[in-house]
Amino acid sequence: MNILILGSGGREHAFALKLSESTQINQLFVAPGNAGTSKIATNIAVNPTDFEAVKQIVLENNIKMVIVGPEAPLVNGIHDFFLADNQLKHIPVIGPKKDGALLEGSKDFSKQFMIKHGIPTAKYQSFTTENLEGGKKFLETLQPPFVLKADGLAAGKGVLILNSLEEAKAELTEMLTHQKFGAASSTVVIEEFLKGIELSVFVLTDGKNYKILPSAKDYKRIGEGDVGLNTGGMGAISPVPFATEDFLQKVEELVVKPTINGLQKDGIDYRGFIFIGLMNDKGNPSVVEYNVRMGDPETEVVLPRIKSDLLELFLGVANQNLEEKSFSVTDKFATTVMLVSGGYPENYEKNKEITGLENVTNSIVYHAGTRLEDVKTVTNGGRVLAVTSFGDTIDEALEKSYKSIDKIHFDKMNYRKDIGFDL
Ligand code: AMP
Ligand code: GLY
Repeated sequence: MNILILGSGGREHAFALKLSESTQINQLFVAPGNAGTSKIATNIAVNPTDFEAVKQIVLENNIKMVIVGPEAPLVNGIHDFFLADNQLKHIPVIGPKKDGALLEGSKDFSKQFMIKHGIPTAKYQSFTTENLEGGKKFLETLQPPFVLKADGLAAGKGVLILNSLEEAKAELTEMLTHQKFGAASSTVVIEEFLKGIELSVFVLTDGKNYKILPSAKDYKRIGEGDVGLNTGGMGAISPVPFATEDFLQKVEELVVKPTINGLQKDGIDYRGFIFIGLMNDKGNPSVVEYNVRMGDPETEVVLPRIKSDLLELFLGVANQNLEEKSFSVTDKFATTVMLVSGGYPENYEKNKEITGLENVTNSIVYHAGTRLEDVKTVTNGGRVLAVTSFGDTIDEALEKSYKSIDKIHFDKMNYRKDIGFDL
């Protein structure tokens, strides 16, 4: 069968590489893809939020399944678009419809969902422009640091964590009254700060049954020691050593089951990934956020650990018989280190030639912001490459990643040398 993957990052390269191992796939397409996906699949220069253009790709290439990498097409309703179209409605889309995608598309919705279904999460209230004063009063009832979240999608920038009450009130005003994050911050969630250490758990569901995929931890800040600006993610590790069997059991009982049951009770037919961002506070899980897709760069450590055919799991989602499917995972640790453009996550230059990729033998190099220019591979984004390695220990895997990185070069290349420092 022919498969289409939507997206252009390291996550989508990881999907493509994993699926390329499946004997059941004839042709693999990625839209728009990157230099890495072009080596193992056919790239098509289409934006995943241009649904009519996606439809053309599907019809012209006899696509039998669509896997949606990023959140934007899901929140915009690509799955609903397929279901409403007579030529597309029989083609499974891996990713929720608009109603399920609200778990990521609206922080207010996801908090209401968690409270309604008794899922542990930080205490919160939501505010709009009309009750700015109410928001300020609520802030006064909380202890610092203060957590403010733009309700809508804000390209990963919509969460502010502030130490002083004055600052928090000023930022709340900026968000509500001056639309700091545009329409995304016309509603703001204010919540209690959660203590603990973060990790992520990934669930794949067909709406009734679910599989819990390997856990991962990512490193979001640009600077070593977790300082500086937030990024999409500078590295990741799987499995998470402090995610013990006992803790994961609690996550399944207290978070995963009520989430899947809650979706069903609310009439949301959810087919796809649920990325659960968790805080582990002394062994007790609390949900920080839901995303309705896989994480990036978490995918670059989760998928390579899966030893069986990923397509089988996707077929289980499509045919709603996921309970009949099984999968196996290697015991080895996987680590990934992101190579980014100098200046990222602020301004950076593109089109720098990448050299040395052919010399890497001990790691998988997933491409993120890259493109081909004739025969050259050049940078095309802030996050450029994710270098993934395996090891019996985290340190062994990291050492391989860093040795591989020594062979790769592009002008102003930057990366964190301390991934896993806190474990
Ligand atoms: P989110 O977009 O909701 O994942 O928030 C981005 C990051 O902000 C999270 O990964 C956490 O590191 C942090 N964060 C969000 N909410 C909280 C909270 N209630 N307590 C502590 N940290 C938080
Ligand atoms: N690495 C965090 C995310 O994908 O949202």
